[in-house]
Amino acid sequence: MASLTVRKLDDAVKARLRARAAVSGRSVEEEIRVILREATVIPPPTAFDDPASRNAASLRDKGFFNVSSRLTKVTVIVGGGIAAYKALDLIRRLRERGFFVRCVMTNAAQQFVTPLSAGSLSNERCYTDLFDASSEFDAGHIRLARDCDLIVVAPATADLMAKMANGLANDLASAILLASDRPVLLAPAMNPLMWNNPATRRNVARLARDGVAMIGPDAGEMAEAGEAGVGRMAEPVAIAAAAARMLGPPQTQAQPLKGRRVLITAGPTREAIDPVRYIANRSSGKQGFAIAAAAQAAGAEVTLISGPVDLDDPPGVTVAHVESARQMLAAVEAALPSDIAIFTAAVADWRVAHAGAQKLKKTEAGVPPLQLIENPDILATISNLRDERPPLVIGFAAETEHLIGNAKAKFARKGCDWMIANDVSPGTGVMGGDRNTVHLLTRGEDGEIRTESFPVMTKEEVAAMLIERIISALPGPAA
Ligand SMILES: Cc1cc2nc3c(=O)[nH]c(=O)nc-3n(C[C@H](O)[C@H](O)[C@H](O)COP(=O)(O)O)c2cc1C
Repeated sequence: MASLTVRKLDDAVKARLRARAAVSGRSVEEEIRVILREATVIPPPTAFDDPASRNAASLRDKGFFNVSSRLTKVTVIVGGGIAAYKALDLIRRLRERGFFVRCVMTNAAQQFVTPLSAGSLSNERCYTDLFDASSEFDAGHIRLARDCDLIVVAPATADLMAKMANGLANDLASAILLASDRPVLLAPAMNPLMWNNPATRRNVARLARDGVAMIGPDAGEMAEAGEAGVGRMAEPVAIAAAAARMLGPPQTQAQPLKGRRVLITAGPTREAIDPVRYIANRSSGKQGFAIAAAAQAAGAEVTLISGPVDLDDPPGVTVAHVESARQMLAAVEAALPSDIAIFTAAVADWRVAHAGAQKLKKTEAGVPPLQLIENPDILATISNLRDERPPLVIGFAAETEHLIGNAKAKFARKGCDWMIANDVSPGTGVMGGDRNTVHLLTRGEDGEIRTESFPVMTKEEVAAMLIERIISALPGPAA
């Protein structure tokens, strides 16, 4: 058997290789063999060969899900509206979740974005023509309509919805929608006057009766200067989450965390000043929710304790919603025992000593004094439990300055096993954003703190990396 040595490999590539190997339940070396085997197979020259074998390698390189078996396929139909540019992000979001994505564009959509962009992002040809000789020799539009698990129309224009509601099929997109027996998710986007037009209202009602699912539109500023109202397309992340809910999690083969209990905290806490006011922070909960989804996909039994966030509960995860730090600690304690505890929540360090039973009123006495007292330290409390301490406790250190120094000090203080340091200073956009740059702090056998730094990644990629590390660190059967 031949051997191959690869030098000068990008750190990010190596991290992704390890993540996808862990999720596939293979060694890194075996994963690389599989990739090379697949990459060197010459696909048969058919117009519609099996996308699973052609694209498995590129899809898996994110490392979230094992996609070597049956791929979950999503057809994205892009309509001709300003929001078409967001459809490009939607393709990425769906692929990040492990779905195979095939794109179709209307003629009008091509005035806003190009099939080349959609094709590059989906790693698959973007279809545009109903009368396309290269795909119609075997009824291509029927194949496009049926060879998928879900059709997402984003943006769904007023025009496309009118065609759907009335059964028109005079272009590729509408022909696919008419010829399909798959579930359809529409993400409408249009000017508020178009959305509120009685014709659109009738079409929307008819489509709902026909069993078509819809997400959005949201309220907000429109592309047209000075216009606002209901009509903005839902955000790509929300559309991808809705698609995932309709489809269920992508097929996974390996369940390396099967039988493990994983406890995760996420989001901010709210500390009451009085019944209407509170102290909070900017945590979005996205990182903790991504970790919960990744742990669930790896087969773990996941309990997520979340502060107030604007996110949908991840499918298959037990979620407890709390407000304050004290409620969060109580929920964490109630969720024990656990094999792994990951504390991503941005828990308020302090709360108001005497929160008002009624709304505080402005009085002539001036500004009310707010005395702060310390909240329970959830990470330290759980790290120092005598009974029921999870075998692996992981803390997150969100810092705005002296990142590694502060994180090391926190690591030494808290008694947890690993610490993830992340820079949340305003310029990074980490708080509330979709990306994160993290450093993993662990202890070597000599007790020295080791720091491993990662490149900027999506929060889903950070989650996959962390789950991969956990899998490697937890040999042996579940507790
Ligand atoms: C600049 C511009 C922006 C448009 N934005 C939208 C939109 O957001 N939503 C919509 O329903 N139609 C919008 N339209 C109108 C559609 O492009 C038009 O109805 C087209 O026929 C839709 O074709 P399709 O449904 O096949 O994609 C826009 C048109 C222009 C010129």
